[in-house]
Amino acid sequence: MTQRLVRGDLDRAVAALRSGRLVAMPTETVYGLAADATNPAAIARIFEVKGRPADHPLIVHLADPEDLLTWAPDASVHAQTLAATAWPGPLTVIVPRGERLPPQVAGGRHTVGLRVPAHPIARALIREAGVPVAAPSANRFGAVSPTTIDHVRADLAGRLDADLDVLLDGGPCPVGVESTIVDTTVEPVQVLRAGAVTDVQVQSILGTDVAGPSGPARASGMLASHYAPDCQVRLVDSPDDAAALRAGTPGSRILDLSADVAKYARDLYAEMRQADRDGVRTLIAVLPSPAGLGHAVRDRLTKAAAPRTIG
Ligand code: TXA
Ligand code: MG
Repeated sequence: MTQRLVRGDLDRAVAALRSGRLVAMPTETVYGLAADATNPAAIARIFEVKGRPADHPLIVHLADPEDLLTWAPDASVHAQTLAATAWPGPLTVIVPRGERLPPQVAGGRHTVGLRVPAHPIARALIREAGVPVAAPSANRFGAVSPTTIDHVRADLAGRLDADLDVLLDGGPCPVGVESTIVDTTVEPVQVLRAGAVTDVQVQSILGTDVAGPSGPARASGMLASHYAPDCQVRLVDSPDDAAALRAGTPGSRILDLSADVAKYARDLYAEMRQADRDGVRTLIAVLPSPAGLGHAVRDRLTKAAAPRTIG
């Protein structure tokens, strides 16, 4: 993992968080736009900068797995087991929100999403700031998540205060797709968003059945259209199908990293952004097989290809 971070950057970022400013921080999944999760004014700025509706809940990032019960005293045994096994790592648990976290961070809900990121810069930042850190992906609402600091800059530079907010460069994110979200407040637990920790892994950690999402949409990743570039995305099952479709589609490009699904996840959003920069009109994506991280890549590609309902 490339790390161009220097001590002074971390100190500035810690000071920024403590004074209610925003920090773009690298995590192992995607870059987050971080603020002190206990400060309602700082949280309000996240929504403003992202252009995100205020009822969309944020994920709160903790420094250590042991902090779970400090911020969510009513977390279930399932949540505690997942935290003890999968944290630090790309897994978010939805738990009852403790009183020390303000309702704004959870979009007014009685539940909150918590995770301990595995990225050393994120953990150092959260630990040294001494507060839990609310951080959605550091992109405009509805756009694809940023996996490099240049993506963050392209999306948000004009909306952040160059003097007071801080951008931390941790190199490209090693996972590349957002964390798995598991709602532990329902029985059986539900996987609301696929990520690097798979349904099968969640099931084996808990030793119980795991369901897919049901009921009203709780995660914005559950909306049919999300994680979308400007270009149209068309899905195919094989390189041959991709070539055939491309032949009849002017202004198209093929995206096929299906031979290496970890690379597919890592490069997916950068490839979508590059296609937009190059003026590609149709990105023809070859779906990876539905196993392991392949589920998360297929989920994001499917959402990028869905009819556009949000901007
Ligand atoms: O990997 C990640 O999770 C990244 C990095 C920065 O940690 N963060 C991220 O945050 O993807 P965001 O805000 O872009 O996506 C958070 C998702 C949203 O779909 C939101 O609706 C869902 O988590 N979420 C948060 N709190 C929730 C809650 N209480 N109930 C249901 N869904 C919740
Ligand atoms: Mg997001």
